[in-house]
Amino acid sequence: MLHLILILKVVHLSMQISYEFEIEDESIYSECSDVPPGTLDISGLFDLTNYTTTLTPDGIAVSGNMTSVFKAEPTDRIELTGNLLYFDRGAWQPTALNMMVRDFCAVMYDKKQLWYSDWSSHVANSDEIKDNCIKVPGTLFLIETYKLKLVFGSGIPLGTGRYSIRVQVFAYDQKGKKRPNDVCYEVKGSFYKRT
Ligand SMILES: *[C@@H]1O[C@H](CO)[C@@H](O)[C@H](O)[C@H]1NC(C)=O
Ligand SMILES: *[C@@H]1O[C@H](CO)[C@@H](O)[C@H](O)[C@H]1NC(C)=O
Repeated sequence: MLHLILILKVVHLSMQISYEFEIEDESIYSECSDVPPGTLDISGLFDLTNYTTTLTPDGIAVSGNMTSVFKAEPTDRIELTGNLLYFDRGAWQPTALNMMVRDFCAVMYDKKQLWYSDWSSHVANSDEIKDNCIKVPGTLFLIETYKLKLVFGSGIPLGTGRYSIRVQVFAYDQKGKKRPNDVCYEVKGSFYKRT
């Protein structure tokens, strides 16, 4: 959801290391710390009433529906940012792994995007709803049942410890003015090197 919008598109160095991100909590999404008052969590983006995530020995099993509730207009531009944070000496610190997607709706179902294999490829009714992107409240996303496995390459070595993937979503109207109702959520976990 934006689902796991992983961040690590960043680097294309020749020596990429393959990592798996092990999510620490089966409910996946948590609130962001230190955000302006009024910032919404994942529930500002999707109604997850009919969406279930369950921890299994080989990953988190995902199934059900999500309904878009993000307050935007069809003519808006949706911007998304991703930041990897690292927990160090009692606080969340920034890392060099950050990304900004200026026009999320243009690439929401693009196979090359980080979130495609872990999220948007599992939207069973994508043909019918893709024009809505996340700009039409009430749009029902039928999610096929799958195992979430977040694997990707990084050119930067990622040490042991706790990390948080922070995702923020903003809507801009046609005049370029940002709407209220910013969404921020985090997915916390650890990286493991794949062998
Ligand atoms: C959840 O599913 C029920 C039963 O299918 C349906 O009536 C309801 O509208 C759904 N809610 C959301 C938010 O998708
Ligand atoms: C998903 O939505 C469809 C259509 O509303 C409904 O028939 C189905 O039962 C829902 N599934 C879950 C797990 O909520």
